[in-house]
Amino acid sequence: MSGSDLRRGALLWDEWWTVIGAGAPSDTFALYTKTRGTQAGSATWRCQECHGWDYRGSMGAYATGPHFTGVAGVIERVPGRTNQELYDVLKTGTPPASGGSALTGSDHSFDEQLDNDEILALVRFLREGLVDTRAVIAADGQATGNANAGQPLYASSTSNPDLVVGQCALCHGGDGKAIDMGDGGGSVFVGTAARGEPWRTLHRIRWGVPGTSMPSAVERGITELADQGDLLAYTQTLPAQ
Ligand code: HEC
Ligand code: HEC
Repeated sequence: MSGSDLRRGALLWDEWWTVIGAGAPSDTFALYTKTRGTQAGSATWRCQECHGWDYRGSMGAYATGPHFTGVAGVIERVPGRTNQELYDVLKTGTPPASGGSALTGSDHSFDEQLDNDEILALVRFLREGLVDTRAVIAADGQATGNANAGQPLYASSTSNPDLVVGQCALCHGGDGKAIDMGDGGGSVFVGTAARGEPWRTLHRIRWGVPGTSMPSAVERGITELADQGDLLAYTQTLPAQ
């Protein structure tokens, strides 16, 4: 598994069809209809829709609200699984042989959607890319990092111009408003996303956004979760409107 697979896996977790250049599924994922979720359509096919941006499923931010499904997280399971078990869960849908899985049959198979390299990238992401977001985001969504320490990561390139450090502002503007990420339902700026969707924002700061030029902080040198948490804390101070 090469170095780039990790980021590819993280982006597949976000919205796999954009990453592989496929159309969005138009139906509702059959497995989703067996959960307690109330969504329909393409969203129901996204890993994060069932397992969360915080990787904690119904134990995390999706414990309540419109994204509740009752599905378990992955972060607490993965350490006890082999790579083969993780691969099989995604390839054939086979429940892990080491037990304790609610899966039956082949409901969880992504074999028709994803090829081997994509499944391996997801396995690598599950193995190496998950973080316990509780270290930097409180249960109410407030970032617990140091915004003052995050500011220079966002806004000014100091020691190493090769790092993404400071380049946030080059694209998003000092106030985070240079790119409007709203899709018809009102403006969404960096500050809007960071406060409204803090777990998604952390995942996307770490890995980027599928199908866009948004870079991965992990790949660009901001590798420590604490630093990413400081950056998130700073983005939560930016204007929402
Ligand atoms: C429709 C909801 C849904 C979607 C979408 C979904 N999963 Fe799952 N996943 C489940 C359910 C349900 C289980 C079984 C949970 C349990 O055992 O309690 C599961 C189990 C898993 C497991 C095994 C956990 C263990 O027990 O070791 C992994 C790994 C996993 N999913 C990864 C993914 C990845 C990666 C994607 C995206 C390609 C994905 N899932 C998409 C519902 C979903
Ligand atoms: C090369 C330009 C570029 C750089 C550098 C960049 N971004 Fe982005 N960013 C984007 C683009 C493009 C998008 C997606 C816009 C869209 O969805 O239409 C985006 C999306 C986002 C989002 C929205 C996520 C969401 O869930 O809606 C946030 C938050 C964000 N960037 C924060 C940052 C931060 C913090 C940094 C610095 C670590 C950064 N960006 C660096 C271009 C950039």
